[in-house]
Amino acid sequence: MDSLDLLSPYLFRYKGKNFAVKEGLKPKDLDALQHVEVHPSDIYLITYPKSGTIWMQQILVKIMDAAHPDQVEEATNRIRVPWLEGSTVDNFLRERPDPRLYRTHLSPNMLPHGVKTKRTKVVYVMRNPKDVLVSLYHFAHSWVMLETPKSFEDFFQDFLDGKAFMGSWFDHVREYYNEKDQMDILFVKYEDMLKDVRGEVVKLCAFLEKALTDEAIDHVVEMSTFKHMKTDPSANYKDLIEKQRYQKETMRKGVAGDWKNFFTVAQNELFDRVFTERMNNLPLSFTWEIKQ
Ligand code: A3P
Repeated sequence: MDSLDLLSPYLFRYKGKNFAVKEGLKPKDLDALQHVEVHPSDIYLITYPKSGTIWMQQILVKIMDAAHPDQVEEATNRIRVPWLEGSTVDNFLRERPDPRLYRTHLSPNMLPHGVKTKRTKVVYVMRNPKDVLVSLYHFAHSWVMLETPKSFEDFFQDFLDGKAFMGSWFDHVREYYNEKDQMDILFVKYEDMLKDVRGEVVKLCAFLEKALTDEAIDHVVEMSTFKHMKTDPSANYKDLIEKQRYQKETMRKGVAGDWKNFFTVAQNELFDRVFTERMNNLPLSFTWEIKQ
């Protein structure tokens, strides 16, 4: 029996990341993932939590449906795009035709080795971390596996200290940026999707080598709007509310700049200081708000 490095009754730490105890996942299960079989045509969607995973998941599913119409499946995106480190092992292992989609929050050193050696395509979505913090704060009130934050102040500090679910945002982004030359990776920004989702879908199709007609691209865009996804049960994870795993909708606001409704001036100054310290030698820029 593995003994867990507990951060709290809800989270354990392994290889620098924080996992939900109640999910039942163990370090040995995480280690085993490094040896799962990877196909060169697999596509990995990788994010720090709350960065736009289910949005990109919907876009990828719709691109693949257009490119491989014989493989369209009547199932939710959650089933169609197995969560690598999730506990749905049967779902993860079920036979699927190539090309297969996977999604994960794991860091580069915990991925299946084949992701690098077989140069599978990786789509890494990142979002400005102030909005990630606010979205994760709400998610911690929703996902029953996580501890409900005592206050926004507490959660804010935990996020900066890397004590939230999956650990430090700063580490996650840095690790993927540092490993970018070892992977076939496309970085996509959530806010760029907000500004011009069609433009991002076109870039994705080029990266994934999927030649879609203009009409097919329009359809992908239509299926991926916040408005559509909010009512699309295959995309929005609402079934998890019925299954009592989530208490609130994941499709919450879907904007850039919501942090302004939560951060105090002092918190914002502190965040900016930490951000500069942790990210200043990375040539990455983030969009902190988009005026409506
Ligand atoms: P908010 O909580 O800020 O609204 P993830 O899928 O990584 O858990 O991220 C969830 C966040 O992505 C939520 O942010 C959710 O509203 C947002 N999101 C999901 N689909 C979206 C879409 N089609 N357009 C814009 N934002 C979307």
